[in-house]
Amino acid sequence: MSDAALLLREALGDLKPRTAMVLGSGLGGLTEALSDKQYFAFSELPGFPLSAVSGHEGSVVIGRLAGTPVIMLSGRVHYYEQGDAAAMRVPLEALAALGIEELLLTNAAGSLREDMPPGSVMLITDHINYSGMNPLIGEKSDRRFTGMSQAYDAGLADAMRQASRDLDIQLAEGVYMWFSGPSFETPAEIRMARTLGADAVGMSTVPEVILARFLGLKVAAASVITNFGAGMSQGELGHEETKEMAPIGGRKLAAIVKRLIGEG
Ligand code: HPA
Repeated sequence: MSDAALLLREALGDLKPRTAMVLGSGLGGLTEALSDKQYFAFSELPGFPLSAVSGHEGSVVIGRLAGTPVIMLSGRVHYYEQGDAAAMRVPLEALAALGIEELLLTNAAGSLREDMPPGSVMLITDHINYSGMNPLIGEKSDRRFTGMSQAYDAGLADAMRQASRDLDIQLAEGVYMWFSGPSFETPAEIRMARTLGADAVGMSTVPEVILARFLGLKVAAASVITNFGAGMSQGELGHEETKEMAPIGGRKLAAIVKRLIGEG
């Protein structure tokens, strides 16, 4: 077990969480709903990556959400920061070593569908790795040939659908396409993404899904829609808009997740 995992195990004590979450833009507030909270900056955990993206400062928060033990990674490190698709490997390995079985990933994304405007929440049912990068490049074991035909766990997806129905919150569904970023897409790229079968575009999550499947974790993922893809609406895209809009869908997704985990 890594030093970081040992440190977290000691902090957990009798708490035995089965579920962990990665909180993307707009979801960070969910840590406030935790009771019996303990907080670690990524910088306190040996080997954890450091992010300098505003709104993404990394921390691990452990505690109980609606009574259920959980570990939250608030903030993540992206491929585009250092060109490292495996940037989140150490944190995800630590979660697996701590006995986490289910990983719930969240992000902010651009919508490719008129019927899924900013403020919507989209359950990710599959993805397209358009970056061509892979966090398992360089991995030596045969486990690198990780199957991705059921990357998103059917049972967890059903639980998300049920939680959103219980709360009467609309949950769209679709395919997330990973662009490396950090520049946004062009209108031509957005038209291409639509043609290729994507419903949303973003700059994260896919490498974490690949790593999580490699580590044997079940995965669920959801996007908060912060904008229409480039060329689908007037004006230029930027990070300010993402940060401004993320809390709108973020509040809905936070409620769904709280319900899901509280029921678990
Ligand atoms: N493109 C890529 N990533 C994003 C977007 C987008 O339109 N919105 C939020 N993250």
